[in-house]
Amino acid sequence: MKAEQNELLVRTGPGTATGELFRRYWLPALLASEVAERDGPPVRVKLLSERMIAFRDSKGRLGLIDEFCAHRGVSLYFGRNEESGIRCAYHGWKYDATGQCVDVPSEPAESGFCGKIKLKSYPLLERGGVIWVYMGPPGEQPPPPEWEFATVPADQSYTSKRLQECNYLQAMEGGIDSSHVSFLHSGALNTDPLFKGSKGNQYNLGDKKPVFEVVESDGGLYIGARRNAEDGKYYWRITPWVMPCFTMVPPRADHPMHGHFWVPIDDENCWAWSFDYHPVRALTELERQAMEAGKGVHVAVDRNFRPLQNKDNDYLIDRAAQRAGRSFSGVDGFGMQDASVQESMGPIQDRTKENLVSTDNGIIMARHRLMKAAKELAAKGTLPAGRDPAHQKIRSVAVVLPAGTPFKEGAGEALKAREGVAQTSV
Ligand code: FES
Ligand SMILES: [Fe+2]
Repeated sequence: MKAEQNELLVRTGPGTATGELFRRYWLPALLASEVAERDGPPVRVKLLSERMIAFRDSKGRLGLIDEFCAHRGVSLYFGRNEESGIRCAYHGWKYDATGQCVDVPSEPAESGFCGKIKLKSYPLLERGGVIWVYMGPPGEQPPPPEWEFATVPADQSYTSKRLQECNYLQAMEGGIDSSHVSFLHSGALNTDPLFKGSKGNQYNLGDKKPVFEVVESDGGLYIGARRNAEDGKYYWRITPWVMPCFTMVPPRADHPMHGHFWVPIDDENCWAWSFDYHPVRALTELERQAMEAGKGVHVAVDRNFRPLQNKDNDYLIDRAAQRAGRSFSGVDGFGMQDASVQESMGPIQDRTKENLVSTDNGIIMARHRLMKAAKELAAKGTLPAGRDPAHQKIRSVAVVLPAGTPFKEGAGEALKAREGVAQTSV
C-alpha cells in the first residue's frame, strides 16, 4: 500500500474521511451493564478520538455528552450524577442527558444564560446488552442495528469487550484472515471448551495451505477459505465482513457462533468487542462460565477492560509450552493470541512495508471497499453499505462441499441469519 492509502484507512478522528465513514453507522459504545444504574457514576467513553461521558439519569434516560464542562473545561467524569443531570464538581454547572445546560448556580435564573449553553451529545440505543451510538449527522441516522447476536433472546447470547492497544484496522484484518488459524491458534483448537470436538478442527489442522475465494456481499464481503476434506471434497470456512468493522468467525460443531466488532477508540487503540450466540438455543451454564472466564474469543480483563495478559507482561508467554508444541505462540487463549501478534506490529502498522500473498485477498478487498466508500462519501455524500438491516442479517458458515461447487452457491441460505434455524457447521 501507498503511505497515503494507509493514512486514509487508519485515521478516524473528526474530519477524516474514514472517520466520517464510521460516523454513518450505529457502533457499539458500552456494555449495558456499565451504565445500568440510575444516578450511577458517569463512565468515560472515547470513540473515534472524541472524549465523552455516558450516564443514566434519575429517570433512567441515557446520555452521552462531551466529557468537558462548557465553563472552564473540567472533566464531568468527576461530576455528580443527581436529579436528572450531571453537575460539574468545580462550580456546579449542570447538564441533562441531551447535553443541555440546565443550571448555572452563580447566575440569576431569569438571565436565561444556561439556556444558551449546550454540550455536544449523540443518540444512544440499547439492544442485545449493548449501548449503541450514532455519531454522524442527524439526517443520516440509519435504522437500529439488526445483527443476529443482538436480536436473539438474552439467554442465547453473551458479549464482552477488551481494550486492544493498536489501530482498529490491523485488529480487524485478523478477523478476516482465516489462514492464521492453522498456525497461531493451532494449539488451542482441540482444548478450548468453546472450540474443541469439532470435525472442522481436524481439517483446519490437516491443511495449512487454504485456498481463498472472496465474493462481494451487499454489505461487504464473504471470505471463503477452502481446505482439503475427504474424498476430494473441500471444507469451507466462510467469514463475513460487513462494513465498516464487523466480522464473524465460522462456527465449529454445535458450539455457539461468534464474532467481533473492531471499533476505533483513537488511532492507536480500539475496542475488540466479542460476542457469542446460539441462534436456536440458550447458552448452557458451562458455556456461559467459560465465556466469563475468558475462554473462546473472550479474554480476562481488569476493571478498565484491559486484558490481564498485555504488552507490559509479554502476554504471559509460556516458552516451554511453545517449545513443546502445546501452543504455537506460547500465549494462552484465542483472543490474546490475536491481540499479542497484532499489537506487536506497533500502534499503527506501516503497510508500505508488507509483502502480501494470495491468502491475504480478503484483507486486500476489504481495504479497497473501505477506501472507496470513504472517498465516495467525502466526494459525493454517497452513504455506505452495511447500514441497511438486510446487510446485517448474515452468518458465518462451516461446510463440506463437493469440489467444483462455488461456496456461495453451496452454502446458499446458510449465509443468511434465519430466525429459528440453526447455524450450518461442521
Ligand atoms: S468548570 Fe465546570 S462549573 Fe466551572
Ligand atoms: Fe485469530
